[in-house]
Amino acid sequence: MTNPAATDQIAPLRHFVAQMTQLVSQSQAEEIVRPKAKALLHELIKTDGWLPDFCTVPHPQYYQQYLLHADPLERFSVVSFVWGPGQATPIHDHMVWGLIGMLRGSEKGQRYARNAAGQLEPIGQEETLLPGDVDEVSPTIGDIHIVKNAFDDQPSISIHVYGGNIGAETPCLRPTNWIRQKLCLRLLLTANSQSLGSLSSNSRRTKLVQLHVGFGATRNHAR
Ligand SMILES: [Fe+2]
Repeated sequence: MTNPAATDQIAPLRHFVAQMTQLVSQSQAEEIVRPKAKALLHELIKTDGWLPDFCTVPHPQYYQQYLLHADPLERFSVVSFVWGPGQATPIHDHMVWGLIGMLRGSEKGQRYARNAAGQLEPIGQEETLLPGDVDEVSPTIGDIHIVKNAFDDQPSISIHVYGGNIGAETPCLRPTNWIRQKLCLRLLLTANSQSLGSLSSNSRRTKLVQLHVGFGATRNHAR
């Protein structure tokens, strides 16, 4: 007989989502939510066995995103970012606070800001994230950066938490692949059961994880 607890793989993720939901229900002020969300994310990424295998698969051409949860009231969202060897983002912003928790591998990040002439220039040194580290971005503390996989020969995975529906945010800086990524997330965040058939197989499965985590309808179902 199978022990249900032994197959409840996503329990830590579901616990994180429950804690986050309670947190944003008490306050949506960034100065209150972001530090507490950072502590919760630290706890979540202490272990990595909870992330379903299909949310760890890199894309051969671009960094891959798997939506893990979207708060129904759009107060926060959780995404698994999977970086293939050598993959990187363009310079981009977010328009909302965000947390980057390193789960597997390593990432390098470089922050940017506009100078007096309005041109983007690097700020500070390139920073390296290792498993267990959590970085922060926000319009209030610096929101423009570039991120890349620190490895040229293996994937890296980070768990991102945003203070809103990241699929609906419109960044000021528009990287060339942002529209595709944004459309992908928007589809996931707005898809209903009738439209799931038009999404990719990975997206369909991602939607299922979102449902299971977000509404707790089914346990032991992360396959
Ligand atoms: Fe970013």
